[in-house]
Amino acid sequence: KNTDPTIIVIFGSSGDLAKRKLFPAFQNLFLDGRMPEKFQIIALGRAEKSDEEFHSYVIENLNSFSRKAALSNEETQKFISHITYLRHDIDKEESYQELDSKLNSIDRTFGARANRLFYLSIAPSFIATISGNMKKLRLAANAKQDRIIIEKPFGYDKSSAIDLNEMLSQTFKEEQIYRIDHYLGKETVQNILAFRFGNSMFEPLWSRNFIDFVQITVAEEVGVEERGGFYEGVGALKDMIQNHLLQILCMTAMEAPASLGADDIRNRKADVLKSIRRIKPDEVNHYTVRGQYDEGFIKDKPVPSYRNDKGIAPDSNTETYVAMKIYLDNWRWQGVPFYLRTGKRMQEKQSSIIIQFKPVPHSSFSYDNQGMTPNRLIINIQPAMDIKLQFMTKKPGLSLSLQPAEMIFDYFQCSTMSPEAYETLLSDALAGDPTLFMRWDQVEQAWDAIDTIQEVWKNNAPTDFPNYKAGSWGPEAADELLARQGHAWVANT
Ligand code: BG6
Repeated sequence: KNTDPTIIVIFGSSGDLAKRKLFPAFQNLFLDGRMPEKFQIIALGRAEKSDEEFHSYVIENLNSFSRKAALSNEETQKFISHITYLRHDIDKEESYQELDSKLNSIDRTFGARANRLFYLSIAPSFIATISGNMKKLRLAANAKQDRIIIEKPFGYDKSSAIDLNEMLSQTFKEEQIYRIDHYLGKETVQNILAFRFGNSMFEPLWSRNFIDFVQITVAEEVGVEERGGFYEGVGALKDMIQNHLLQILCMTAMEAPASLGADDIRNRKADVLKSIRRIKPDEVNHYTVRGQYDEGFIKDKPVPSYRNDKGIAPDSNTETYVAMKIYLDNWRWQGVPFYLRTGKRMQEKQSSIIIQFKPVPHSSFSYDNQGMTPNRLIINIQPAMDIKLQFMTKKPGLSLSLQPAEMIFDYFQCSTMSPEAYETLLSDALAGDPTLFMRWDQVEQAWDAIDTIQEVWKNNAPTDFPNYKAGSWGPEAADELLARQGHAWVANT
């Protein structure tokens, strides 16, 4: 826990992320006693607002988005008194001078030079201007005390990410840059490490010798909501695969780290990204499937097609679904397909990892027409938070036949409410622990692994969009991707 006096500066404090995630996370950390005794949040925004006006905006949003029950008036006031609103114009140097004076005056009240955590919750196109001005005014000049959190997407391909990183490195040292991927803050994602390396019985099976294939699914019911303008230029490959799904892949496939230190863990994850087999342009169609949703029904409610959603071009070719097959060229995983898929407007919200083990080499059982089900380990990340082990048992009765059975570890049975991903990540950033953030080489490798795909897609417009119904499990081609290998997406309900 960080106990040093700290100032948090939020660029884009009136935006969606701040209202849904950042303020609720700070509030929960505050209620749990995890904020330093002396801290102040400076909320920056373009509009002219008084502190009082901004405070009532925050309170209203806490009531809608915070996981904690409504606060007492006294607690609300206590938390809210730590927030100051400051009008800010990203392009104007005066705004940074005002910010500088504000920071200094808070330091004086604290009686110490506070740590500074800058959260850039703004469109990537503003990052250069902000960091240039911060450099000019030396706002984050203390590499030991000052940190900056950058949201994804970090660039839009490898070369733009390199440019962005070079630009940032003129103002910040690598250890000051916290590239956030909120999936890494999720309890169930962190538990993958605990599960794999805190137990001895799974690890010996965790390789090409016993595993047939791995499936990673991040399916969402929501469409693009209010973010059409942003999403149009991004699409599922960059919005989800490049970061969230590849990070889950890393956690699933990485070697045991020498220690739980940030660099040891990040080295092992970088190894996974490096070992992703790079595919050639003419192989892209063989390894990937892209999709875009048509109109359909989500839980019996009609929803429009992507092209008819708010802020979307009627002839948009942006993909809202991706399925792909990945091979890792290393000793542990040679030949094991990792199937990744993610999509919006899918039948149900579900993030999971399914490890399917190889069949028994020989079986003498009769199955009562039931066929042998493969052994599987299913890690449900959300909304279900559990780990299931599926195996065969004897069917009770006089004959010796088999039936599938399941053992379940369910988070909800053993814990009170888990912290939200942003709470974990903000708390780590406050304490200067970068383990769950993306080091530069990870981001670079992740782009390197998908650049060819986006290049080929950009140069070859899809001919079949929209190609899946809202409320389905995605395009048929995604089933064929697996069927070619005699595999199928595992139903996980
Ligand atoms: C974000 C993506 O990073 O993750 C969104 O930009 C997506 O498009 C979201 O909806 C999903 O996050 P979660 O935590 O709701 O699974």
